[in-house]
Amino acid sequence: MSKIRLGVIGAGEIGRLTARDFSRHPDAEIVAVADLNHDRASDLAEKFSADVADHPGTLIARDDLDAVYVAVPNKFHEEVACSVLDSGKHLMLDKPFAIDLAAAQRIAAAAQASNRTLFLGMNQRFERNVQRARLLADAGTFGNIYHVKAYWRRRQGIPRMGSWFTNKDTAGGGALLDIGVHVLDVALHVLDNFSPVSVSGAAFTRFGNRGLGEGGWGRSEREYENFDVDDFATAMIRLDGGQVITLEAAWALHQPSANEHDVLIYGENAGMAIYADQLFRDGADGGYQIIQGASSPELPFPHCNRATHFINVLLGREAALVTVDQALAVQKILDAIYQSSASGREVMI
Ligand SMILES: NC(=O)c1ccc[n+]([C@@H]2O[C@H](COP(=O)([O-])OP(=O)(O)OC[C@H]3O[C@@H](n4cnc5c(N)ncnc54)[C@H](O)[C@@H]3O)[C@@H](O)[C@H]2O)c1
Repeated sequence: MSKIRLGVIGAGEIGRLTARDFSRHPDAEIVAVADLNHDRASDLAEKFSADVADHPGTLIARDDLDAVYVAVPNKFHEEVACSVLDSGKHLMLDKPFAIDLAAAQRIAAAAQASNRTLFLGMNQRFERNVQRARLLADAGTFGNIYHVKAYWRRRQGIPRMGSWFTNKDTAGGGALLDIGVHVLDVALHVLDNFSPVSVSGAAFTRFGNRGLGEGGWGRSEREYENFDVDDFATAMIRLDGGQVITLEAAWALHQPSANEHDVLIYGENAGMAIYADQLFRDGADGGYQIIQGASSPELPFPHCNRATHFINVLLGREAALVTVDQALAVQKILDAIYQSSASGREVMI
């Protein structure tokens, strides 16, 4: 394969940003764009001198594409992803994997049957600090890690109110599926443990249902009156091996800062606040050290970009950082959090 010829399905907020990243790869070319909204598709296609498909199915049916990037509302992940894979094309699918575990499993089965690459675009894994945390964990800097505290809480950050994001049927869930998924994935990745044994969770709808807390993300139309997804969720996840993750995701919350986002690692020898880039440990002189910007070994993905990575994976230059089994484990935990919330009981996995 010389240059990867790429189709983009979904020309919304994230589709536009990620298409720009793909276009910067010297060995990738955006050939066609599709969106149910023709104006959005045309506008994006124009930027890359790409074709506009009159329908996602038309793009998928083309025989001159190697791969497709899909960024459509969660409900349509399954239908679009399975069609792409069945057509023999590689796929980078945006998060969350799917609307629920059963749908994610069907996408995974389609990938297996077609023998194509299915890559979940978990962009946070490529963040410089996350790569560094994983390297430090692998090098034994933390010693045994027994707890990870992962949170992403916005004071006022509900995506476009009334769009697919705030409707359970089209989104599957709210803050948990939208931003909780990122920090949960980072926690499991740093622990290098994707084997949950039990989950206790609770999800709340306290702001969006009162018309409060909109932040503004998203380009889709406002078409739903009911806000029926979580704007706050919390969970405790036990892993095989005894480690515990605590997780919080909020689109809207009374809190001191507009955005609170970090993954804290607690090990026997050291701790780290990944996004704050602080390492905590005993100093050699008997004092306690808080090291800002821990020295960084060479990063495995110096480009720090999922689109670049996906193209490099297809070209055989990098091994996929996110595996399908890992993505399924994340989805299993998300489903279990909602189940636990509904039942008021811990869910055994
Ligand atoms: N990786 C990230 O950090 C990140 C960030 C935001 C969103 N996302 C994910 O990307 C996806 C899209 O989110 P967004 O923020 O771009 O939303 P958006 O509302 O801005 O855009 C969605 C686009 O999909 C189009 N669309 C709807 N149904 C379609 C279909 N069946 N076929 C083709 N196009 C269709 C809409 O017309 C719209 O243009 C979601 O799954 C979301 O969870 C990921």
